[in-house]
Amino acid sequence: MDLEKDDGFRPQKSHGEQTCLDSERSRITRAEGSRKKMFCRQLLGYFGVFILLVILACFILGAFLPPEAVRWASSIFQGTTQSNGQPDGGPPPGDLYLLGVGKADITGPVVELNLMGYADPKQVGTGLRQRLYSRAFIIGNAERPEERFVYLVLDTQSGDTAIRYGIIDGVKRLGSSYAVYGHHNIAVTGTHSHAGPAGWLNYLLPQITSKGFDQQGYRAIVDGALLSIARAHGSLQPGYLSVGTTKVHGANINRSLFAYLANPEQERGEYNISTEDDGSVEKDLTLLKFQRASDGKNIGVLTWFPTHGTSLLGNNTLVAGDNKGVAAYLFEQSVRGEDTAADHFVAGFSQANVGDTSPNVLGAWCEDGSGQMCTFENSTCGGKSQACHGRGPLFRFNDNGASSCFEIGRRQFEPARALYDRLRKDPIPIQGPTVKSFHTFHNMSDFSFRLPNGTMARTCPAALGYSFAAGTSDGPGAFDFTQHSGNENTTSPVWQVVRHLLKNPSPEQRACHHPKPILLDVGEMHKPYQWTPNVVDVQAFRVGQLVIIVSPGEATTMAGRRWKTAVADAAAGLVPHELAPVVVLGGPANSYTHYITTEHEYAVQRYEGASTLYGPHTLAAHINVTLAHLRYLAADGPRPPSHGAKGLFPPDNSNSSLSFIQPVVLDGTPLFKHFGDVVVDVETRAHYRRGHEVRAVFVGANPRNDLRLEGTFAAVERGVVADGGGRRWVRVRDDGDWGLVYRWRRTSEVFGTSQVEIVWETEEWAEPGVYRIRYFGDSKSLGGTITAFEGKPDRSCAIVNANSLYILVPLRYC
Ligand SMILES: *[C@@H]1O[C@H](CO)[C@@H](O)[C@H](O)[C@H]1NC(C)=O
Ligand SMILES: *[C@@H]1O[C@H](CO)[C@@H](O)[C@H](O)[C@H]1NC(C)=O
Ligand SMILES: *[C@@H]1O[C@H](CO)[C@@H](O)[C@H](O)[C@H]1NC(C)=O
Ligand SMILES: *[C@@H]1O[C@H](CO)[C@@H](O)[C@H](O)[C@H]1NC(C)=O
Ligand SMILES: *[C@@H]1O[C@H](CO)[C@@H](O)[C@H](O)[C@H]1NC(C)=O
Ligand SMILES: *[C@@H]1O[C@H](CO)[C@@H](O)[C@H](O)[C@H]1NC(C)=O
Ligand SMILES: *[C@@H]1O[C@H](CO)[C@@H](O)[C@H](O)[C@H]1NC(C)=O
Ligand SMILES: *[C@@H]1O[C@H](CO)[C@@H](O)[C@H](O)[C@H]1NC(C)=O
Ligand SMILES: *[C@@H]1O[C@H](CO)[C@@H](O)[C@H](O)[C@H]1NC(C)=O
Ligand SMILES: [Zn+2]
Repeated sequence: MDLEKDDGFRPQKSHGEQTCLDSERSRITRAEGSRKKMFCRQLLGYFGVFILLVILACFILGAFLPPEAVRWASSIFQGTTQSNGQPDGGPPPGDLYLLGVGKADITGPVVELNLMGYADPKQVGTGLRQRLYSRAFIIGNAERPEERFVYLVLDTQSGDTAIRYGIIDGVKRLGSSYAVYGHHNIAVTGTHSHAGPAGWLNYLLPQITSKGFDQQGYRAIVDGALLSIARAHGSLQPGYLSVGTTKVHGANINRSLFAYLANPEQERGEYNISTEDDGSVEKDLTLLKFQRASDGKNIGVLTWFPTHGTSLLGNNTLVAGDNKGVAAYLFEQSVRGEDTAADHFVAGFSQANVGDTSPNVLGAWCEDGSGQMCTFENSTCGGKSQACHGRGPLFRFNDNGASSCFEIGRRQFEPARALYDRLRKDPIPIQGPTVKSFHTFHNMSDFSFRLPNGTMARTCPAALGYSFAAGTSDGPGAFDFTQHSGNENTTSPVWQVVRHLLKNPSPEQRACHHPKPILLDVGEMHKPYQWTPNVVDVQAFRVGQLVIIVSPGEATTMAGRRWKTAVADAAAGLVPHELAPVVVLGGPANSYTHYITTEHEYAVQRYEGASTLYGPHTLAAHINVTLAHLRYLAADGPRPPSHGAKGLFPPDNSNSSLSFIQPVVLDGTPLFKHFGDVVVDVETRAHYRRGHEVRAVFVGANPRNDLRLEGTFAAVERGVVADGGGRRWVRVRDDGDWGLVYRWRRTSEVFGTSQVEIVWETEEWAEPGVYRIRYFGDSKSLGGTITAFEGKPDRSCAIVNANSLYILVPLRYC
């Protein structure tokens, strides 16, 4: 049995269409192309029908034919992988850098744990749609290789202080060649997916809904991030970078237009290009392409584009990377087998100034039967926020946002891929050998500084306003404190322990946050430990003319622009003057400081303003501190001071947090059954077409027993003819694939029994063939021993038919 994942599979295009598109690309114009394409399709159609008829005949005669005949027929479907395109047209004229990319699994417990983001204690994981990853990108100075930085993109709600400490601590232990990595040059960014396990965050507030801190999930993220760094480090080699920008339409919408419109008209006017691109959200995606010098192959891309990771809704309970996870998946699949792309190509879709953006692009509607849109000013329906829900492009599927999520991912992937192809022909190189970075911790409790207009301003200890509890149209009002304090049965045990510690803000604190009415004075509550950060991360990276601002909070559209503009203006002095600086903002990173709005948006006090922790001048303070450190990015700039000397460190609560998360007690099986036994087999004598679901149910065990990191709980294997005749099975789908869904369900608390359902939602690019479904689990005995087991259905046989003809599968050939 061969369990390697088949490289021949690619999304979006079936094999035949790919060939047609290629000839179109190289030889003919668009109009001719589509005619040619149709002709190709027709030809393929006829060919397909012919083959299918042959196979149908084979199966009808199946009983009389030797098995080899059937194998011959199915082998026709297995097409070989063709390369798509020429090697990258030589190195771009930019400078040489030291480049490395790496990717590793960070999927924590996928069941019995709250999901992170919507702050809804009722949203508890029931399975896995897509594994979560850390993607690491390392860029170094070719001549001075100690000058380098690591940009991590984690499929998590945000970066985090405890996670970052764990990574910085762990990287030192990887070996002496890792001594170059530390606080200054590691950025831990999150994609802002709201569909990952919770319980790994450093501060108390986000731990309330997850019943505290979860060591297992925390370790999964830290260890996976370290593995991705090790892989990137191990792949370091000379290469080139190019950068480009493209428009992404239909993947984000302003979530707080009412607040955005409070920004000065003249400022808004600078970004108000058209009705479709009116500046109320950023439509620009910036892409950085990594190309190795040895053979000109691309090893990865890193992109920035803002849209919330809230395509999967608050009632989704399957773990996934949300729309950024989809975009990265599609990109990585799309380059497979291409001559221009190296093996282990890594695509990072980093979050940007995400604050007031939403992927629910059809707007926010009242789900109270009124058929109306939510109020413009405060996103309510009948005075309440709970019924107001943003709608994704495919909300009618009513699948907890899954279809919309895939679609929003695709809408980011496609322009990114087109830009990547364009950069191959017209590279815009990153130039100048400089690679620099800095990081510092800054105390936002009481920071006095001068605003650009000369007025002095200050920040305040963190506090959250009333609209924080109302939530947003992406996730309305789950963090509802009246509900939390009222019913002990739905309240987190953490909340029961800490609610009496709530503090009334002092008059001074109220004045400092004005006009925000304070709901939670989190920055002044230090018991049992810090509720939110007061000490924030300040960080930026530079390579050539590219500057990356690493933001600890969710900057809104306009806040991000002000920050980037201020940095671009200042960086103009650092970058050779023939090159315009390219400035991007990535985050939420390194910690989670909630939102960063402009003073004007803050005054409106919608959710984003209410969640701006350090008062009205939070953004201005961030800009001031970033600019104060920008000299460290100059080619001949000083080295940033070491952290030890200054001694300001936020706390690490990873070993001291509250936790009420119960471990697995034991797993049991029903009488006369074994783990992995089939409970419901794949539908008998089924015919499957693309888009059909293939499903099987097994006697299961709790997936928390072993996270199977770098492995899989579910797999689809495809039968192929082995060299010596006979069939072998090749893995073609695993937990990393969007279309393969793993669901776990407890059937008896007392006996510890559970069932696992595996569903393959066959994709439009699924290739015809014979497949079987596999389940990999681990059971826990009463004594605590954990034992691995495997399951496979007896009749796990399906043929996915490309041309909508039904094929009956005689079971004996599966
Ligand atoms: C901004 O929001 C308004 C109303 O919510 C919507 O009609 C408009 O299409 C949005 N524009 C963009 C560019 O997202
Ligand atoms: C963009 O400009 C149009 C025309 O001036 C104006 O009506 C609209 O409100 C502006 N939109 C934003 C988001 O500023
Ligand atoms: C929300 O705005 C509406 C006006 O659109 C107003 O009548 C209502 O009082 C506001 N509700 C809250 C909770 O602020
Ligand atoms: C999930 O939530 C969305 C948004 O509130 C709602 O429209 C949908 O009906 C819910 N789906 C299910 C299956 O409950
Ligand atoms: C941050 O500043 C506040 C106010 O000046 C001070 O009380 C607090 O101790 C400082 N925090 C740290 C970690 O130094
Ligand atoms: C930041 O604040 C400091 C302290 O008030 C001031 O000296 C400096 O000019 C400010 N920086 C900028 C870029 O405004
Ligand atoms: C300076 O800017 C701040 C923030 O926008 C504002 O509150 C203040 O009134 C301004 N001061 C002057 C003198 O314009
Ligand atoms: C909580 O559950 C207990 C026992 O089921 C019940 O007696 C009590 O009324 C419930 N409390 C609330 C506020 O619903
Ligand atoms: C937490 O505990 C682990 C295991 O004992 C230890 O390795 C780690 O250094 C501790 N972390 C902190 C921040 O104390
Ligand atoms: Zn958010």
